[in-house]
Amino acid sequence: MQLIDNFGRSIDYIRISVTDRCNLRCLYCMPDTSGCTAAGKADGKISHDAVLRYEEIVRFVEAAAALGIKKIRLTGGEPLVRRSLHELVKGIKQISGIEELSLTTNGQLLAQLITPLALAGLDRVNISLDSLIPERYAQITKGGDFGKVMAGIRAAESAGLLPVKLNMVPMLGVNDDEIVDFVRFGMHTGAQIRFIELMPTVVNEHLFSKGFIGSEQIRRAIEREFEITPLKLRKYGPARYFKVKCAAEPQSHASGIIGIISAVTCRFCSLCNRLRLTADGRLRPCLYSNIEIGLFDALRNNASAEELQGLILQAVALKPERHHICDGTKTGTSTGAPFIMSGVGG
Ligand code: 5AD
Ligand code: SF4
Repeated sequence: MQLIDNFGRSIDYIRISVTDRCNLRCLYCMPDTSGCTAAGKADGKISHDAVLRYEEIVRFVEAAAALGIKKIRLTGGEPLVRRSLHELVKGIKQISGIEELSLTTNGQLLAQLITPLALAGLDRVNISLDSLIPERYAQITKGGDFGKVMAGIRAAESAGLLPVKLNMVPMLGVNDDEIVDFVRFGMHTGAQIRFIELMPTVVNEHLFSKGFIGSEQIRRAIEREFEITPLKLRKYGPARYFKVKCAAEPQSHASGIIGIISAVTCRFCSLCNRLRLTADGRLRPCLYSNIEIGLFDALRNNASAEELQGLILQAVALKPERHHICDGTKTGTSTGAPFIMSGVGG
């Protein structure tokens, strides 16, 4: 079974947010409020009762898998702050048709939780890491512990969740001087570095206008020290992948793969294969638009698989052809008002 939208795109991937809470407050993601900056403080706006239960998420994935969804990614907020996440992983992995289950995490709790997650069948992790300098990492995340995220990376590797992918958001004057260090770190550790363009949200307008770095600039910074060759790994989604080799030591066997994700400057919408489910059960056909289909009531009231599938098909039918985030901004060419997201989160 294949799920095809009105623009011929095959939809086979859903990102599921399991919580809006986070134990960090990355400067591009969370509002800059004082008094709630230490790691470990929760940040949820959705009340406990309004968050989908694990068995509801599993029923949703069952219905979606029967329509052709093959890949699931669990996100947040920070998904690992939700208790016993491995139970959800186990439930989703048992669903026929689901080929890949991954997790995006800030890594703070990963080392302590990796064993049950791996045993439950988690296939892969993406870990957010915006600096290799411990003090700077703590500043960007407002209290994140660099040692913990490193321990999380090692734990994921030891558990065989390979390749471990590291998400880095380069920002001018914040961490742009580390782009090359990240490439080197990836070559030495085997981690796959993914450079992600900073996306505008309601909480980071100032940072975005001062600190945005486009993917071409990121690429040029890398090319000053490395030879990079485009790889044809791109299937769907926003990432372009490159093989990197050290230009100064062409004989060296050290090489790695990096991804550059042009979420803002280069529209990847024609390749978009995904939907997104919020922690409180709203199904969004596009991350950058406010269109959504409410699934919460249906899931809480034990709607049948057919009813759930009807709602999923409605969301697919509403999937816009493209986003408008750079329209009217310095990165765009048209003059329309910029669409500013309310948040990207995990
Ligand atoms: N721009 C770019 N990336 C973001 N992320 C969160 N908010 C933004 C944003 N505004 C990234 C984090 C993390 C992933 C979940 O999303 O760095 O790696
Ligand atoms: Fe938390 Fe992720 Fe947002 Fe950082 S980017 S504050 S880790 S949800």
